Amino acid sequence: MPYFSKKQLQQGANFQLTATLSGLDITYNLFLHNTRFVPQGVKIDHMRGLSVDVLPYLKEISFDMVYIDGDHAYESALFDMLMAQKLVKPGGLICGDDLEVQAAECDLAFLEANRTLDILPVPDLKRNCHPGVSLAVHEAFGDVSAYHGFWVMRKWKPVVTNRSP
Ligand SMILES: C[S@@+](CC[C@H](N)C(=O)[O-])C[C@H]1O[C@@H](n2cnc3c(N)ncnc32)[C@H](O)[C@@H]1O
Repeated sequence: MPYFSKKQLQQGANFQLTATLSGLDITYNLFLHNTRFVPQGVKIDHMRGLSVDVLPYLKEISFDMVYIDGDHAYESALFDMLMAQKLVKPGGLICGDDLEVQAAECDLAFLEANRTLDILPVPDLKRNCHPGVSLAVHEAFGDVSAYHGFWVMRKWKPVVTNRSP
């Protein structure tokens, strides 16, 4: 799946390797291989495709947890997060990878200017960040709990009331 832009591919060998592995089905075949060894009784369903094509087919408010680890570019990452909000049950978890830096820790204009890139260093922090993921998390959820790139938040529970407005 050639999901990286030319500019991203020029950024480094990491992206070239991932794009090549996706194109050769290596990652998918490894997934099929690994999931053969789950304990009996554990059922794994999977759908293969871009999240923009697949997520709209999933049942809303039916998942305990959604883990997001796909395209890092802002538009796709935000789409995945907004869809996750629809899919997760109240009280469920939405989490993902690649949030090394939260918007509050850096200049928002820096994230916006680089939101289509995969990964780059934040000048003042001397840390790498995925600007599209940082910006999307900021817009979808604000500050979240984050641990070395892994981030998690609990979906808001709507208050049920019979009181009229
Ligand atoms: C950062 S890697 C993470 C892979 C895996 N979760 C892991 O930790 O090994 C991102 C993966 O998302 C896939 N991907 C990229 N863009 C996607 C999209 N728009 N929809 C679905 N998957 C996507 C890529 O093919 C790649 O396998």
